[in-house]
Amino acid sequence: MSSFTSLLFSCAAIAAFLILLRRWRYRRLRLPPGSLGLPFIGETLQLISAYKSDNPEPFMDRRLNRYGLVFTTHVFGEPTVFSAEPEMNRFVLANEGKLFECSYPGSISNLLGKHSLLLMKGNLHKKMHSLTMSFANSSIIKDHLLVDVDRLIRLNLDSWSDRVLLMEEAKKEEHDQIRSKSKTGAPLEWSDYKSMIFTQCVVNETLRMANIIGGIFRRATTDININGYTIPKGWKVFASFRAVHLNPNHFKDARSFNPWRWQNNSEATIPVNVYTPFGGGPRLCPGYELARVVLSVFLHRFITIFSWVPAEEDRLVFFPTTRTQKRYPIIVKRREESSPCI
Ligand code: HEM
Repeated sequence: MSSFTSLLFSCAAIAAFLILLRRWRYRRLRLPPGSLGLPFIGETLQLISAYKSDNPEPFMDRRLNRYGLVFTTHVFGEPTVFSAEPEMNRFVLANEGKLFECSYPGSISNLLGKHSLLLMKGNLHKKMHSLTMSFANSSIIKDHLLVDVDRLIRLNLDSWSDRVLLMEEAKKEEHDQIRSKSKTGAPLEWSDYKSMIFTQCVVNETLRMANIIGGIFRRATTDININGYTIPKGWKVFASFRAVHLNPNHFKDARSFNPWRWQNNSEATIPVNVYTPFGGGPRLCPGYELARVVLSVFLHRFITIFSWVPAEEDRLVFFPTTRTQKRYPIIVKRREESSPCI
């Protein structure tokens, strides 16, 4: 046998030994039920092909039906516990920096840049997070940012040609009422934003069904016993917000887009761990209020300035992030009565 062949055999034997050792260790721990799939690849290919389609739910539904709301899988090269359980998701979010640490796949981390808050840890993260939270709170948006958000959106819309991109829908009457209250073209006021009740319903529903962030990744910093299972130290956890948002036990007719479900302050009755488009705990999104304001002002201005029809058929895809495949091209027409930004 050549020395190359014997080296190959030794490597294969060591790899097989390590795999068996790992299996033995996992068997001793009580892991959440599930499957680690093929060696190395795990279930990554199934996940990617599901999330590249406009209906990724079967990947999750099949496993949820088979194993329950918390299951083990193996994706992006790592064993991962997938949670569709609101209380478990809350536990994971709340224990950031204690039992878990933020851990995104390399591709996402590269995209964020090395100084991103999401990559900071410990005390530095604590300080920077509270500083960032104070930059975009309601009173700062009300007193300073709203006017600029509105102006920038209007300038942008003014420059639109006939072919543009849009992802939202809203009820026009509400915007017409606001517009008739204030002089056409005049800047929006905080009270205008607050009176966009139906728009808030559309924003809530969009964030429930088509949030750009389907869930969050964490890594267990120690063996964690929860609900009778063990999440081994070093394993990833994916707390899936989407799986909770689309569970019919939490939202009636959960897979239909129905902004009216949010009317009459009905969100007050939804438990805080069930609707979490902006995460929670020490990494709660600092931009949550600003994002709502930007979306609402954009919708208001867009709907009152333009009418539109879809230019082409389009569909949602969910990998690597939630987006429309062709960026939803539409043909817009300026409403005659609208006046440019002043
Ligand atoms: C619809 C829009 C948005 C959604 C759905 C969203 C969602 C989220 C979620 C779920 C997290 C938590 C990530 C985790 O726990 O691992 C997060 C974190 C973060 N978001 Fe947002 N976000 C949005 C808009 C914004 C905006 C407008 C800003 C800035 C102005 C922003 C800044 C951040 C930052 C800096 C973090 C990291 C916080 C930390 O690690 O402490 N986000 N976002």
